[in-house]
Amino acid sequence: MKSLIVANWKMELTLVQARSLARRIRSASRRVHGSLVLCPSFTAIADVVGVLRGSGIAVGGQNIGALERGQLTGEVSARDLAALGARYVILGHSDRRRLGETDALIAQKVPLALRFHLTPVVCIGETLQERRRGTTDHVLRRQLRAVLGNLRRAQRTAVIVAYEPVWAISPGGPIAPAQAFSAARVIRRWLASATTRILYGGSVSPRNVRQFVDGQHFSGALVGKASLQPRTLLSLF
Ligand code: PGA
Repeated sequence: MKSLIVANWKMELTLVQARSLARRIRSASRRVHGSLVLCPSFTAIADVVGVLRGSGIAVGGQNIGALERGQLTGEVSARDLAALGARYVILGHSDRRRLGETDALIAQKVPLALRFHLTPVVCIGETLQERRRGTTDHVLRRQLRAVLGNLRRAQRTAVIVAYEPVWAISPGGPIAPAQAFSAARVIRRWLASATTRILYGGSVSPRNVRQFVDGQHFSGALVGKASLQPRTLLSLF
């Protein structure tokens, strides 16, 4: 399986910077041997889709509203995100959970994303406190059950699960690869699917990416900081 890098640009860039970064990545990307997804802010989605058209690099959102339409001031619908040309969406990132997003809300968003042909990149992961308490495996299974438990089997294989230990996201981390592999095994066992993609996220850099993305436990990475420079991003493949 070719490796998949999902670049989470968070709210780091202005519209002009996002456009320019996408352009620079496109022109430097001829040597990418894998799949790349860039996830800018909503306001930059249309422009970045335009810049990347025909390049083979995909675009994703960082969230969607939990309803198809309606009274959700400030949210963006899955339908609109897809209509703009996005093909992926990050769901349940710890930045959003910190703002109050719950497993129940994420569970509503996953089938909605799939309905509009957006591949959900569903983030799960323990806090440092949970790891120290020795409850990591329990937390991962609880999150998986809450967020993906109601999906049909075919839907379960269509999602991507990103294991992001909250404490390992930069400037924290990274976690020891053996600890990450153990989490990947817990996730794989719960999914009971050999084909669902599992990504690692948290302080991934060109220096450590190959320790995590081994093609067995993880087939790719969700990357924040290291995705903001074309050369660094492309050397993750
Ligand atoms: P990082 O971010 O690569 O900067 O640690 C990862 C993420 O938050 O998705």
